[in-house]
Amino acid sequence: MSYYKMPILDDSGFVVVDSYDQSADPQEWLDIEYVNWKSSGDTRFSPIASAYGDMECDGFWNHDPAKTDKDGVWVDKNKGLAPKLVERAMEPGVNIGRCRVIELQPNSYADAIHNLHIDDNNRLNPDGTGWIVRSFFNLTDDQDSVMILREDKNDPATETRVPLPAGTQAVIDTQRLYHAVWHPGDQPRYCLITSWESAPGLEEWIDSNNPITRIESPAVPAEELAEAERRAALRATQEQKPEVMSEA
Ligand SMILES: [Fe+2]
Repeated sequence: MSYYKMPILDDSGFVVVDSYDQSADPQEWLDIEYVNWKSSGDTRFSPIASAYGDMECDGFWNHDPAKTDKDGVWVDKNKGLAPKLVERAMEPGVNIGRCRVIELQPNSYADAIHNLHIDDNNRLNPDGTGWIVRSFFNLTDDQDSVMILREDKNDPATETRVPLPAGTQAVIDTQRLYHAVWHPGDQPRYCLITSWESAPGLEEWIDSNNPITRIESPAVPAEELAEAERRAALRATQEQKPEVMSEA
């Protein structure tokens, strides 16, 4: 047995579908309650669905009883304040695990490269069921921001940068692709992130929204690239240091 995975993600590990018209919706992300939860930079999160419906963002496996990232329970207060976000998370009709809004403060390209990570989406997920992936619905109009995706964390040649204007919708295998957002604005960025179980219903939703699995990445200014390279080289040196010392 193995997990059910959607063939459309085989190619690049991500898919971008038609943009959603965000302009007509109320800015529900400004009304909901946030908790301090650090992940990939200066962030706060607002849980819309959590492991057992509490106002918290911990991994579902860190609860008693532990569970995989499925069967999320709506957090009553935030569900009531964000009906549109709930509706959008439910649109494909597949099992939902964690569902939350991330608030990310501005950062640099080098910060984002430093923050690259993969998610632990499938811990405790029973073999033979659907592989858990994540949807990212950008809520704010972050014209200069990008979601950085890398197949290999340390290889810039494997990098794709997905632009993040309002309404951007992407589904990403975040346990395969290293990811982080470069957000050079002066206001926080908000994005709805939902764990979805891979299933035929999700493929149908993707197929009906004009999916693309390859995109043209916007260029990164030379000075931003240089700073990221400088910090990567510094990190590599620091990681090697203990070895050098043990030889001495
Ligand atoms: Fe992540």
